[in-house]
This record gives sequence, structure tokens and C-alpha cells, in this order.
Amino acid sequence: MEKIKMILDCDPGHDDAVAIMLAAKSPKIDLLGITVVTGNQTLEKTERNARNIVQCLEVDVPVYAGCGQPMIRQKMVAGDIHGESGLDGPVFEPLTKELEKEHAVNFIIRTLMESDGDITMVTTGPMTNLAMAIRMEPKIVEKIKEIVLMGGSYTNGNVTPAAEFNIIADADAAYVCFTCGRPITMVGLDVTRKVLCYPEIVARMDKIGNRASKLFVDLMGHFCKAQKEVFGWEGGPLHDPVTVAYLIDPTVITTKPMHTTIDIRSTESYGRTNCDFFGYQQLPPTANVAVEIDAAKFWDIVEEGLKLYN
Ligand code: BDR
Ligand code: CA
Repeated sequence: MEKIKMILDCDPGHDDAVAIMLAAKSPKIDLLGITVVTGNQTLEKTERNARNIVQCLEVDVPVYAGCGQPMIRQKMVAGDIHGESGLDGPVFEPLTKELEKEHAVNFIIRTLMESDGDITMVTTGPMTNLAMAIRMEPKIVEKIKEIVLMGGSYTNGNVTPAAEFNIIADADAAYVCFTCGRPITMVGLDVTRKVLCYPEIVARMDKIGNRASKLFVDLMGHFCKAQKEVFGWEGGPLHDPVTVAYLIDPTVITTKPMHTTIDIRSTESYGRTNCDFFGYQQLPPTANVAVEIDAAKFWDIVEEGLKLYN
């Protein structure tokens, strides 16, 4: 079986951390590198968090730091959910895992250009690094096999009624990626809000009893508490790992092709992913948008993924 070659561009982030856990050990995935962007916290913090996760999991994946600012607007962070560090909860050993010297944008360009066009770009944070790479070297576009992103919503946002965090945090970058012309699968809040990490799920993962499950439990302790305080939910929605679960087993979500645009002009709806669910505009689809998720299958994938660790 040929592995899916993948670059994971993220902003860890509790749910990003679980996406890393699933991608780094899956026998179906060849994780070429983790590229990090400012998002849930500043770049300084998110890249450090990525290295802490990789070190804690004892996986050998290079970590590259990317853009510390969105393309045009000022940065926004999500400290209310992910805490001051961007990954509050777990206590890590002293950090020895080194950051790669190459900038994440250069790594993305170099790796795509050297490839046979068989690399999937997964983004679980603002899409700045990928958009900057596309702008710096437009030839990479034809080398991208597919973009799979966690972001957006065809219903309600989570920062404003219209917008989801990863899109509103750099809507210009999302605009560049959504208009680049490559296949794009959008895993939005519409499905990720259906995989709430209830205490039973945390207990189930805890039973595995290895380094990954311990990290999962430590992460969810903070994440679920914060989600309850901010949104009033008992379990935190585990957004980002749905992208990786989809690559491991595409049947975990159902997608619908929709003409999709990013609102970068309005004030109230800025950052909205306008997905033409009903096909009113009679325009060709530009994204496969996730509309359903098999939550039981998703949790099985997470459990199997965590069990791959010692
Ligand atoms: C997204 O925003 C971040 O806070 C999460 O890590 C996830 O990528 C959900 O809106
Ligand atoms: Ca994220």
C-alpha cells in the first residue's frame, strides 16, 4: 500500500496536537514535515508547542516555523480556548527537539517542487504559510495533489456568527488557497462540532495507557474545560484531527461539492466561507465541503491511532 505523502501545516493548539498524533504514526501516512504558523497563539509559542508534541511522542518529524503574521491583517490568537501557552495543560520534559533552520514557506515550496505532484497539504490553522508559498512560487500549485483544511462553516462560525477562526484569522490567505484551482476538501465546524470529546471519550483513551493517551488526557483536561467556559459545551469539539482521520479513512465524512468563496470584503461577514449548498448560483463547485461525519468511526480512528504508540 502506498502511503499518502503529507505536510501538516498547523498552529498547536490542543486539537492540532491530536492531528499530529494521528498523522505521525499512521501506517497510511508519510508525514514529511510539520510546518507551523501563528494562530492559536503567537508563532514563538506554536512552534515550541509543535516541538514539544513531537518530542513527547518520540516521533522523528522535522518542525519548521513559518509566518508570524497573517498576509495583510493584524494577527489574532485564541488564548481563551488554548491558554497562554497555546497548549495549556500538559507538562513537558525540557525541550531538546530542534527547530529546522529552513523557513516553513521555503520548505513547502522546495518539497512540492521536488515532488511528483503526490503531496497532500493539510492545514489545521490559518492558511498563511501555504498562501505565501503559492504567491512566492506559483509553480507549486500544479504540484499540490489536494488541500485538506480544517476551517470554515456553511452554517455558523465560532468567532463571529459568520466566521470560523482559521479563516477569519487570515481570510486573505484562505482566499488565495481556495482560488488556486487545486482540489480542496473543507472540513468545517458543521462536522467538527459533532465530535465532542465527552468525559467518556477521555476515559476510553486513558485506558490505552501509553505516552500518546497520557498526552491526549492532559490536553483534553484544559481544552474541554475552556470549551465549557466559552461555549457552554460539556465536551470540546475535536476539530483538527478530522482532516487526518479523513485521509486515513475517507468514509469517516461525507462531502458535497459546492461553489465556495471566502468573504474578504464585508464587515459583519468577513471571513465567512460562502458555500452554495443548494446551488443557487449555478456555478461550478470549487470545494468538497464536509456535510456529515460518522462520529463513532472517528473515535475508533482516534483510538487506533493512539494505540500505535508505546
Ligand atoms: C480551529 O481554531 C483553532 O482554535 C483550532 O485549533 C481549530 O483549528 C477551530 O475553529
Ligand atoms: Ca488549529
